[in-house]
Amino acid sequence: MKFFIDTAQVDEIRTVNEWGILSGVTTNPSLVAKSGRDFREVLQEIVEIVDGPVSAEVLSDDAEGMLAEAEPLVAISDQITIKVPMTAEGLKAVHRFSQKGIQTNVTLVFNANQALMAARAGATFVSPFLGRLDDIDQDGAQLIAQIAHIFDVHGIDTEIIAASIRHPLHVTQSAENGAHIATLPFAVMEKLLHHPLTVQGIDRFKRDWEKANKG
Ligand code: E4P
Repeated sequence: MKFFIDTAQVDEIRTVNEWGILSGVTTNPSLVAKSGRDFREVLQEIVEIVDGPVSAEVLSDDAEGMLAEAEPLVAISDQITIKVPMTAEGLKAVHRFSQKGIQTNVTLVFNANQALMAARAGATFVSPFLGRLDDIDQDGAQLIAQIAHIFDVHGIDTEIIAASIRHPLHVTQSAENGAHIATLPFAVMEKLLHHPLTVQGIDRFKRDWEKANKG
């Protein structure tokens, strides 16, 4: 499973990219609004940092509007992946984008049939939202396993991005259950690094070394 970061904060992207683990970025309108910056400007900076797909979401309700909105975004770089909502108009747009060779990420996927339809329309990626399913007492991790199984049985090469990740356990479950990618908020990325025994171990090695080398 690869790691994407789910953010529009360029400093967070730069930090995780330096760890050498970053394969792509997802943004959404809420994250871009939170950044308070111009969307195209942010995308331009991100593609210069990361070597991989960068999802940029369109907001139109109809396929024509989505295609028009995507034009200036894909002009920034061929890394730009158009993020499209899981609706009938979204599927139409995904189909048209795939004919033009433009990568797509179908977002707001909450069941296996939505994922299958998105894949058949030509989506490069589908994004099932784990956290938002868990919020309504449905098993988000189980949905990843179900989609992975269906894609495997039917030889579908659309990649599954585990999205709406809230904590490290979601990451482990996504990897175990067959997600190709997990897109993580920076705070979750940081939590993945830490284990108390790692901290204790570093401290003990340093103390033992200092003791032995005193005087
Ligand atoms: C995915 O691409 C979305 O940007 C994101 O993961 C949504 O997460 P949230 O449910 O925490 O807003």
